[in-house]
Amino acid sequence: MTKMKLGVNIDHVATLRQARRGFEPDPVAAARCCEKAGADSIVAHLREDRRHIQDKDIRLLRKSVKTRLNLEMSLADPVVAAALSVRPDQATIVPERRAELTTEGGLDVVRHFRRVKNIAAALRKAGIGVSLFVDPVAAQIQKTFEAGIDTVELHTGRYAHASAREQVRRELDALKKMAAFARGLGMTVNAGHGLNYRNTRAVARIPGIEELNIGHAIIARAVFVGLEQAVREMVKIVNG
Ligand code: PXP
Repeated sequence: MTKMKLGVNIDHVATLRQARRGFEPDPVAAARCCEKAGADSIVAHLREDRRHIQDKDIRLLRKSVKTRLNLEMSLADPVVAAALSVRPDQATIVPERRAELTTEGGLDVVRHFRRVKNIAAALRKAGIGVSLFVDPVAAQIQKTFEAGIDTVELHTGRYAHASAREQVRRELDALKKMAAFARGLGMTVNAGHGLNYRNTRAVARIPGIEELNIGHAIIARAVFVGLEQAVREMVKIVNG
């Protein structure tokens, strides 16, 4: 069995820095620390409102990240232009609503099919791998495939937020079925959102998922134990 990978989302290192609009903590130094602790990729979301990660951050990350840089981005023209200019290893297309606290659901690729397809083609032409963040729903995965995109990231938010045991089981089952469905189409399957030190193990055991992308829980734990230790602990869970 191949090793499950961990992508660490460093957005909230930038959130803390932006609280004072200064220089610390530095997301580039954080990325280096995550890589040292065993992260397989560094994830950063260049939001349209630039509430945390800034354009300069992704330019610097592009130069310094030694593993893989996975840029989360919406379909907005200025963000697409930034991605084409910086050329991350991978672009993960996500939906974005201005007032949301975080990415609340997967992208509706059925609805935005033509635009997704065109932007994915432009990104690929620039040598950027493309992934789409979708809910674990067959129609969305099927349309992602039809848009010529070979990687999906399954949104684990409904699983992470479920509380009743039966609901947790149902959401985990949906993730398992949809991971198998996407693999059946020959796609690479990743997953993320809302995963933490308690609920990640069950997702890490789902056959066919290659990488989990985790941010908030790791940065939150880093406040108490340090970033390197927080990442090491999550690497252990992911590979448990
Ligand atoms: N994957 C994607 C596509 C996301 O948009 C996010 C949130 O930025 C994450 C993973 C990480 O979510 P969390 O911060 O809840 O771990």
